[in-house]
Amino acid sequence: MTVLVRSLYGADLPCLVKMLNDEYSDSYEFEAFSENSLHLWLQGGKLEILVAEEDNQIIGSAAYHNGYWGEEIVWVTVGENPNRKQIENDLVNEAQKRVKRDAVFTAVDAHSPKINEWIERGYKQEGGLYHMVSRLDSVMSLPGVPSDTILRSLRPEEEKDFVETVNAGFETERVKLGTIQLWKTESPPFNEEWVQVAEANRRIVSIVAAKPDTNHNKLFGTSRGYLGPATTLNEYRGKSLASALTVRAMNFLFEKKMDSVALFTSERNTPSVKLLQKIGFKVGHHWKFMRKHL
Ligand SMILES: CC(C)(COP(=O)(O)OP(=O)(O)OC[C@H]1O[C@@H](n2cnc3c(N)ncnc32)[C@H](O)[C@@H]1OP(=O)(O)O)[C@@H](O)C(=O)NCCC(=O)NCCS
Repeated sequence: MTVLVRSLYGADLPCLVKMLNDEYSDSYEFEAFSENSLHLWLQGGKLEILVAEEDNQIIGSAAYHNGYWGEEIVWVTVGENPNRKQIENDLVNEAQKRVKRDAVFTAVDAHSPKINEWIERGYKQEGGLYHMVSRLDSVMSLPGVPSDTILRSLRPEEEKDFVETVNAGFETERVKLGTIQLWKTESPPFNEEWVQVAEANRRIVSIVAAKPDTNHNKLFGTSRGYLGPATTLNEYRGKSLASALTVRAMNFLFEKKMDSVALFTSERNTPSVKLLQKIGFKVGHHWKFMRKHL
């Protein structure tokens, strides 16, 4: 049988949605695909979906995305088929043709047998991502910080300082003027009070932002908070500022009746992973990044 790999047509969407939901329904905190969610994602212009067709039937799909974290193969899947591996390889090869720079990655569940299939395609494990979670069942005491440091919430007039400190701490443009307004719109009742800051020498030197985990709460009926971004200016690191602000943010969420909190961090971010584990966060899920240099 001849298998044709081609770009998605609008008429393929219902079949694709079913295939993706069947394939990924067991995955961690799975958010079901819908025609509308895929349509919106495609409209962003950074996602390209490929399908594998046999006898006028969609039997597989791959997606290429050019996003904040780099160029990514978001999924590759073929339903039950004796030639599954070959068709998936064809889909990956076609997706790789979309790559504009010199590398492409995909995220795979740590310990998944799929990792070996990516290695066979020339991909190497390069770091990974943790989803870290903690219960909120009491007010916790704060780790000590230097006596000249004030811990408090962000003030509405400090948006510019917020943007400068976050971007300096991450050494990249992580937030912009307008980000706080966007969070207010996306995640009510978020406001400046949800952003914990440390002030030293009359400047904001460390920040931990908290929000409701809006999407998750809507989908799963939970009361979970979300932390991030979090950062400390380089010269103020190692003084427990981020630890203290994280605990403050967790206590704040607890007082807002949230019963758990989650965030994402890179497995290679030793200071972040160390401080989170010390506070009581556990790894909720672990993805490995598989990367190929083209
Ligand atoms: C992660 C970050 C916020 C930590 O800020 P901080 O104010 O220095 O954090 P703390 O002092 O509260 O805790 C850091 C812990 O990591 C430890 N640490 C720091 N560098 C380390 C390293 N290279 N190896 C091992 N441990 C390290 C510190 O000793 C401290 O642990 P301790 O309290 O047991 O001594 C800061 O490094 C940062 O801004 N990084 C860049 C942005 C970022 O990655 N943000 C987090 C994204 S999830």
